[in-house]
This record gives sequence, structure tokens and C-alpha cells, in this order.
Amino acid sequence: MTTPNKKLSSARLTQPTNAFVEEFTASVQFDQRMYAQDIQGSIAHATMLASVGVLTEAERDQIIAGLNTIKSEIERDEFDWSIAQEDVHMNIEARLIALIGEVGKKLHTGRSRNDQVATDVRLYLRDMIVPIRSELFRLKEELLNVAEREADTILPGFTHLQTAQPVTFGHHMLAWYEMLVRDAERLEDCEKRVNSSPLGAAALAGTTFPIDRKLTAELLGFDRICLNSLDAVSDRDFAIEFNSVASILMMHLSRFSEELVIWSSAQFDFVDLGDAFCTGSSIMPQKKNPDVPELIRGKTSRVYGNLFNLFSLMKNQPLAYNKDNQEDKEPLFDTIDTLLGSLRVYADMMSAITTKPDNMRNAALRGYATATDLADYLVRKGIAFRDAHEVVGLSVAYAIKHNKDLSEMSLAELQAFSDQIGDDVFDVLTLEGSVAARDHLGGTAPNQVRAAMKAARNK
Ligand code: ARG
Repeated sequence: MTTPNKKLSSARLTQPTNAFVEEFTASVQFDQRMYAQDIQGSIAHATMLASVGVLTEAERDQIIAGLNTIKSEIERDEFDWSIAQEDVHMNIEARLIALIGEVGKKLHTGRSRNDQVATDVRLYLRDMIVPIRSELFRLKEELLNVAEREADTILPGFTHLQTAQPVTFGHHMLAWYEMLVRDAERLEDCEKRVNSSPLGAAALAGTTFPIDRKLTAELLGFDRICLNSLDAVSDRDFAIEFNSVASILMMHLSRFSEELVIWSSAQFDFVDLGDAFCTGSSIMPQKKNPDVPELIRGKTSRVYGNLFNLFSLMKNQPLAYNKDNQEDKEPLFDTIDTLLGSLRVYADMMSAITTKPDNMRNAALRGYATATDLADYLVRKGIAFRDAHEVVGLSVAYAIKHNKDLSEMSLAELQAFSDQIGDDVFDVLTLEGSVAARDHLGGTAPNQVRAAMKAARNK
């Protein structure tokens, strides 16, 4: 990065900018990643200016050719980004003037960097939502694959992280799937408000030139136009909304990660995350650490931090544009990068995960996971639920004392707690009987998991 050539925006100022102020106020270090959108926006603007007669067709063509040259210079890494030109917009404009001369100076007619930057950020975010959406889709698909494979696998379901009732692994995966479906819906909804054109708002009040905002919006693929020029240049709701969607999504991944960390521990040993997604320890040779889920949990914090950053950035800003807004980019870009990377690694990790059904089964047996089934059984025999609850509590205490599961007690042992118990009780005391009995919409029965999975696939 260099600091050559004359500034485009400082004729009024008699003193040169303090060297550190120049560096301090510049954004080109981080906003250059929007170069393609900046050029796309400028091409649309020049096309529109020619269509309303502000530029000649020859001028438009020269400008567009120059912008395309600049794009390929940047892509070949031959572009000399300069701090003195402050941001991506002025770097490109200065280079355009250097390349095509006087005509280049006409590009900025009827616009301002204020509507330009708002346009670029919206276009950039819109472009980045595309790979985010596809990685999210891939993760959802991987969850369905696991759910399909593990529709019959039984593990203890937990409340308070204590064994509660048996559930199927497929059902558990579909719970995460449901959350991601809502995230995808939120993302789609947020995209509507991202895809709105601020171009034409100029500095804040619009412009005296006979611009055609509908044409630029159409050329840039925007669905709508930001209708008030003051709002258009200063609104960053769309970025906050995206970061909110990202925060909720990351919260889901973080919760899921917490489970994977627990499940892959030696104490639980329910799943194997695959060596490719774990790392060893530099000192303890036996270790296989679940770094990926731990890091997702950690990265969730930075996405929340970015959301709070953007909220704080906006809360005291009067209309219209303020330089504060330049600070929107780093948190937004960081959220985009973090979310995209997290979804990608998660989808890959879920494609490699394997389960340890015997360990999960044994854990469910150890935890008296079918106690509710016994209570429900007694209710069906005519005992009030509260009384049944007490009978089962006493039976579990007995079973713990004799170190056996409820299903391992003899009929005589069980009948000591209630004479309503018959030998059909063993159908409900098995783990398979317990999950199969929860056979209704949204229940954990393997049948229901398969039906839910099929419905999800058809969507
Ligand atoms: N670099 C600025 C930003 O990121 C561009 C807009 C500057 N406009 C201005 N009037 N200083 O927001």
C-alpha cells in the first residue's frame, strides 16, 4: 500500500492531511474487498447517466472499458492501493482518471460516496449470502443423512443433562435440523431488505441531475429502491438484521457444539468426530480434542460481539451519513467470514461423524430412562398419575439398590410395588418399546423420524 497521487476530495483544504490522520481515517485496508461491487455499481451508474443524456455514449463506453481494466488489474494483483485515496471508491476513481483522463472525472456526476458505499455494502452482502445459503443447505442435508442412518439408534434424551427418556439419534438430529430451517427462513427474509437500492440518494438529499433510480436498481438486480434519500445513505438496519440472523444461527451451532464436545468425551463416548476434525495435544499423547466444535462455540461470541458493535455504532447517529458508518464494515465482514467458515466446517464434520450405539444404549439403561413409560403403563391400568409416579419412584430406588435396570427386574419384584403390573409390562420397559410408543407427529419413534425426514427431503 502506498501514499502517492493527489487526493480527489481535498481542494478546499489548504494544509495536507496529517500522515497518521490519513492512515487513521482510511478504510481501503478493509473495504477493498468490495472492489467488484464498487465497479459493478459504477458501471450501472455510468450506463444510467448515458441513458438520461448526462454522459454521451462514447463517454460511457470509455468509462466502462476503464473500469473493466481496473477490475482485471485488481484481480491480477497489479493494482496499487493507496492510503492517500482513503477508500476503495476513491482508489478506483483515481485510477480511472489516470487511465482514461478527463472523461474519468465525469463518473462521479450525480452521486456521492455516501450512496456509493451504501450500495457497495448491500451488493457485497447480497453476494455473500449466496455461499452462506448453500453451505447452510449442505449442513441441513448432512443432518438429514445422519438422521436417516440413525433413525433406530437409541440414546438417552436429557433434561438438566440428566437421563430423562430414551430418544432416537435421528430424532435428535432432526431437532437441530428444525433450528437450521428457521435460520434459513430468517436469512431469506433478511435478504429482501438487503436487496434494496440506495443509489441515487447521492450525499443525502438526492441530486439535481435527471437520474433514473429505477434503471440503476434494475441493472444491479435490486428488488426495491430505498425510498427516502436521507434514510438510504444512513440506514444500516440491513447489516444489523443480517448479523442478528447470523447470531441466532451461531447460537444454534454453539449449542450443538456443546453436545458434540460432551458426547465425544471419554465419559460419554457416544460419537466419534473423526480424526480430521480433532487435534492432539502437544504434551498429552492420548488426547483427541474436539477443537472444531469448541472453536465454533468460541466464534459465536465474536458474532454476538459484532452485532453489539453495530448496534452501538448506530444508536447515536443523527441523519444522515456520518463517518462513524465506515466502522460498519469490519464487524459485518467478520460476521460474514465467521459464519461462512463455521457452516462449511460443520457440514464437513457432520459428513464424517460416526456413532457408538452400544455406549448410548448402555447409558440409557443406566439412567432408568423408561421410568416414565412404567408410570404411563400404570395409568393405563387405572392408577392415577401421581400415585403411579410414586410407585415408579420406589421401584427405581429398589433397582438402583440392586444395581439393575427396570427391565431387568423380575415380574415378582415389580409386583411388590403394584399388583396392577402384569407380564405385558416388559413391552414398555425396553428402550425400543419406549421410543416406538412415542409414535405421533413430532415424536421420537423411528417411524416418525423417517416420516419427518422424508417430509424434509421433499421440501
Ligand atoms: N469510506 C467511507 C465509508 O466507508 C465512504 C463514504 C465516505 N463519505 C464521506 N462523506 N466521507 O463509509
